[in-house]
Amino acid sequence: MAGDSTVNFNLLHRTCKLVVLLCLLHISVTVVFYVRSLDIRFAFAQNQQTRNAVTQLNPGRTTLEPEPEGPADRADEKKAPELPPQEEKAGEPEKTLEKCPETSPLLVGPLRVEFNIPVTLEQTKDENPNLQRGGRFRPKDCVALQKVAIIIPFRNRDEHLKFWLYYLHPILQRQQLDYGVYVINQGGSEIFNRAKLLNVGYAEALKEYDYDCFVFSDVDLIPMDDRNTYKCFSQPRHLSVSMDKFGFRLPYNQYFGGVSSMSKEQYLKINGFPNNYWGWGGEDDDIYNRLASSGMSISRPSGEVGKCRMIRHQRDKQNDPNPQRFDRIAHTRETMHKDGIKSLSYKVLKTEKFPLFTKITVDVGKP
Ligand code: BGC
Repeated sequence: MAGDSTVNFNLLHRTCKLVVLLCLLHISVTVVFYVRSLDIRFAFAQNQQTRNAVTQLNPGRTTLEPEPEGPADRADEKKAPELPPQEEKAGEPEKTLEKCPETSPLLVGPLRVEFNIPVTLEQTKDENPNLQRGGRFRPKDCVALQKVAIIIPFRNRDEHLKFWLYYLHPILQRQQLDYGVYVINQGGSEIFNRAKLLNVGYAEALKEYDYDCFVFSDVDLIPMDDRNTYKCFSQPRHLSVSMDKFGFRLPYNQYFGGVSSMSKEQYLKINGFPNNYWGWGGEDDDIYNRLASSGMSISRPSGEVGKCRMIRHQRDKQNDPNPQRFDRIAHTRETMHKDGIKSLSYKVLKTEKFPLFTKITVDVGKP
């Protein structure tokens, strides 16, 4: 009997030991998994931070409604820049931000650009929470190398503008630019004048902020690679170098149409753009002539990086080819000092601040 109870006791003892060991094993496995899940969450948060390195200090407005501005509002804007000073937080010592790197680490390279699925302003606004009123942005974590005003000559192309904003805002943020988007809308129904609208954009943007670089972009052109940085270079830059419309090549060497950029200094050196090209064509060739005769050359990205897609459309009403363009282009050298930013005259009819862009409607007169 005594032998039986010893055997039973030993069996019970071993079973208990096994249960305790199993419990310990269970606890350690649980602890290991818990610690690993913390790691993963931490890594995910870090990753998110890198992806969101394009964040802003203040979130944008939450409505798509514009805020019309009276003359007093505009006068105020001239005095103060749109965005609050970087790193301004109550009670915290001011941190000095470093300059952003020459090449943004946020770039991803080639992009898919398609126009078959419609996009909405609401969607673009939701996907770009760090934009400020009027389509303004600057990086939060570093000081942008350039202050870029993006000028879009415009009339009745709301559908194209939606695509432009949808694609460009994320790209420009990844490019770590301090930028603002200005849509210069030609009021009335006179014949279109692209170059004059660009001059107006230059003048109006400078009234708002101390921009040092100007990108002039057609509303229907979307870059297919974010390494094509919308900034200025030591020479005037032609950015839309391989458009699908031209079989992804330059139509001719002097071509300067579509999207281009110029520093303030380069722009002033050529007295801005001509004001008297009414209708389609020639004004970009005149700008090229101005640059060439002022001793500047054109800088361009590679054909690969400079790929871009154009939204197909019919020719606009009141933008027929300008029959005088050939004669005008032949005389740029003589006319450029008289006709340009120095002789620009126009009337602002309306300024609207939308969440994704600033729209300035102007009367540019008629031929
Ligand atoms: C016109 C330019 C135009 C180019 C490409 C030229 O003939 O003068 O204004 O950009 O063709 O379409």
